[in-house]
Amino acid sequence: MKSKCMAQIVSQTEIGRNIHDMLLKAPEIAREAKPGQFVMVSCRDGSRILPRPISICETRGELVRLVYRTAGKGTEEFASMKKGEELELLGPLGNGFPILEKKAFLIGGGIGIPPLLGVAKAMKTESYAILGYRDSDLYLLEDFVPYCGVHAATEDGSFGVKGTVLDTLREKNLSAEVIYACGPKPMLKAVKEYAKEAGIPAYISMEERMACGIGACLGCVCQTKEKDEHSQVKNRRVCKDGPVFLAEEVEL
Ligand code: FES
Repeated sequence: MKSKCMAQIVSQTEIGRNIHDMLLKAPEIAREAKPGQFVMVSCRDGSRILPRPISICETRGELVRLVYRTAGKGTEEFASMKKGEELELLGPLGNGFPILEKKAFLIGGGIGIPPLLGVAKAMKTESYAILGYRDSDLYLLEDFVPYCGVHAATEDGSFGVKGTVLDTLREKNLSAEVIYACGPKPMLKAVKEYAKEAGIPAYISMEERMACGIGACLGCVCQTKEKDEHSQVKNRRVCKDGPVFLAEEVEL
């Protein structure tokens, strides 16, 4: 069940270049949230009326942790806020990752990495995080260490494997029975192809611009293989039907 609340900021730190880590007190949302779900966060400034979708990184008791990148006025405003101030949250929203009892790869790229921390914590079986960064700005990497094996890829080769997350899988000769992935579209596309070749399911979290976040405005549709039962067109709403989809169901 989703709820709307004013959530107090418990802490806020910059953990990477333009990457902010905010803990908010939101007991109801924290209780209900599943890995891969998100919240809509509202600015206080009435001129920027659209709330921003931010994926839930993890929950800790009554606290919700959001790790986000500043990319415009809205998120810059969140980043300027201090401990004790309040933001309006609506959530948890969308469908999260199904946690299966299978050996898993958690594949994250860039700002797609945060929601996979919640998956790493929820996994009861052997799992490996394969995290892709641009350079040695390795935000959140240490956070995964207590929960799973961790491998990193950097585009500039400054840490881990030089190249992509897929290069890392091949170079390390790793295998798994299921993939959970979140990151930029080219990465998701490569994950989808890899999963098809390997004959394993891949659950991918899609990112789209969102307005309402609750399935009402159709501003966030993605292309699918099958027709939607209600609309009879080949698309689904990322906010309501996703953001997590089986890779084989969506066109990338
Ligand atoms: Fe409105 Fe998804 S954001 S339907």
